[in-house]
Amino acid sequence: MGKVLAIANQKGGVGKTTTAVNLCDALSRENKKVLLIDLDEQANATIGLGISRELVEVTSYELLVTDISIRDAIYFSIDNDFDFIPASIKLSEIEGKLHGKPESRLTLARKVDTVKDEYDFIIIDCPPSLGSIIDNALFASDAVIIPVECDYYAYDALTQIVNKINQIQKQKRKYNRSLTIEGILMTKLDNRNIFGYKIVDKVKDLFPSKMFKTIINRSSHIQEAPMYGKTVLKYAYTSRGSKEYRELAKEIINNN
Ligand SMILES: Nc1ncnc2c1ncn2[C@@H]1O[C@H](COP(=O)(O)OP(=O)(O)O)[C@@H](O)[C@H]1O
Ligand SMILES: [Mg+2]
Repeated sequence: MGKVLAIANQKGGVGKTTTAVNLCDALSRENKKVLLIDLDEQANATIGLGISRELVEVTSYELLVTDISIRDAIYFSIDNDFDFIPASIKLSEIEGKLHGKPESRLTLARKVDTVKDEYDFIIIDCPPSLGSIIDNALFASDAVIIPVECDYYAYDALTQIVNKINQIQKQKRKYNRSLTIEGILMTKLDNRNIFGYKIVDKVKDLFPSKMFKTIINRSSHIQEAPMYGKTVLKYAYTSRGSKEYRELAKEIINNN
């Protein structure tokens, strides 16, 4: 049975998408069968993997609002070793469409359940918000990875996403489903600056048992890779950023 991991934080720019695409590549290089689901209307994961938005017909939007099967939304990329469900700008219409329909929170979960046996990991890249899309993602997930940028506002925002996880945890119990925190991932650490380490310590004080050992440092290779439609592992395999995401993949495999 595969494990479904949501990469979530309502704050933008903290490294959710970067973590989603690079973790998928790193896990697949450990011979894991991986599916990436892009749930952000900005489709950064889709674009960052070099997939043209114009070329995809079925996306995660159709998955959430129509009765298509998940198999009809999965793309098999030639360039990457993991499977993929792209996002569409139409996801911006979702809140209006799903408003007042609490059962719709289970749509993605029900569909993901039908392919869970075929994957070792299903990774969901979430949008920077706390609405219906994140509810769908958290209902479908077994656990959450929370990327936290090493800056003060990101630290402050952490309590909001943890509250959301607690709230969904309670709701999921009614359906016999669980949700845990897989780990908090500190990202974009500037190792020339003592301030970032202070944030790491503050988060450790709050969640001593929830921190990943791996920390992702700020890196130009990580930043540049999407421009070439590549993961950092493909773009610069021997770089520090690539090594850190490979370490994260190993840490997750060892924890499961
Ligand atoms: N470790 C890192 N070092 C340098 N730049 C990074 C790093 N992680 C992410 N970025 C950059 O920061 C920006 C936001 O990252 P992204 O993954 O898109 O965040 P989110 O999905 O949470 O909005 C992007 O331009 C990305 O390339
Ligand atoms: Mg993103």
